[in-house]
Amino acid sequence: MNNLYPIHDSLVSRQEKEKLLSQQGMVFWFTGLSGSGKSTIATAFQRTLYEQGYFAEVLDGDNIRTGLNNNLSFSEADRAENIRRIAEVAKLFCQNGIITICSFISPTIAMREQARTIIGPGDFVEVFVDTPLEICEQRDVKGLYARARRGEIKGFTGIDSPFEAPINPEIHINTTTVGVKEAVGNLMAKVRSTGYEVRGMGYEVRGMGYEMHSEELTEDEENIASDFYAPYNKKSVQNLIVWQKAMQITSRLLKMVEEIKEFGLRDQIIRSSVSIASNISEGYNRGSNKEFIRYLFIAKGSASELHTQLLFVKELYTFNDLDAILNDLSVLLQQLGKLIQYRKSHGF
Ligand code: ADX
Repeated sequence: MNNLYPIHDSLVSRQEKEKLLSQQGMVFWFTGLSGSGKSTIATAFQRTLYEQGYFAEVLDGDNIRTGLNNNLSFSEADRAENIRRIAEVAKLFCQNGIITICSFISPTIAMREQARTIIGPGDFVEVFVDTPLEICEQRDVKGLYARARRGEIKGFTGIDSPFEAPINPEIHINTTTVGVKEAVGNLMAKVRSTGYEVRGMGYEVRGMGYEMHSEELTEDEENIASDFYAPYNKKSVQNLIVWQKAMQITSRLLKMVEEIKEFGLRDQIIRSSVSIASNISEGYNRGSNKEFIRYLFIAKGSASELHTQLLFVKELYTFNDLDAILNDLSVLLQQLGKLIQYRKSHGF
């Protein structure tokens, strides 16, 4: 009798995990000088991902070097070993569907190519945080450049140890012209291009992991929540943040759609964008919680349709405002999800 059951038959696959998380695992590999802003952008990026419902982790030089890699120096060989281990860890994270943000000087092309090979080229996104040495040195947040100049630290990257800038990074952030917010916007666009672009839908499908705790509410959510308790006759739909947001998106879109030559697409965009606000309003005015939830679902459906339509527009046109609108729309989708969740868990 064959009683051998290979373990991989029963292991949960990467695809299954990614489906569970509604996201695609990938590694954003930040490279740049010490003090270039890698950690700042990495942290802001992780925060934005989290707020939009993505699961992401940051691996950072200063942290990893006090733990996993605390036996490594800054010699070229040890730096290569540092990067090799981190790449292996990042690979494990990525294979589990996690968006992994690695923030390491990783000074040579060879080291980064090794990381790319370990992680797998399809999952590796090289991000060059490009800040001139003079500026890093001026900032000198940790006081290390001054110490390196005084000769107290030997082999400091950029001073007496080389940094090889990436030749063709997937994402190039020139921090002298691009702010943190814009940089995060570019990174988010890359995440959205994976096909898991419409977030916020996952929450009530998963039904777990996301609870509304009043102490965690953002200002917008506070506004929504306060409106939950308001008697219908005292407040109007105009006070609902989701309605306001839908109206803002619609009015910004209506200016843009005039330039869209594909009339079918233009029609669809107008229809789905108008449908969001009108369904919120219709549901709200019904006065019953159950009905309201039903209409919120319809509004949410229209919002995801609109999202898909706008991604299509993005392939065809370059509208300045489009990324910002897509971003707002993702936030709206998420807020609608929360509102539905909240309404479901509180009887009215
Ligand atoms: S790497 O070169 O091996 O990729 P890593 O990103 O892990 O470097 O660590 C860089 C951080 O270590 C810097 O931000 C700085 O705070 C600190 N550091 C200490 N000594 C050096 C050095 N000789 N060169 C560069 N960074 C150093």
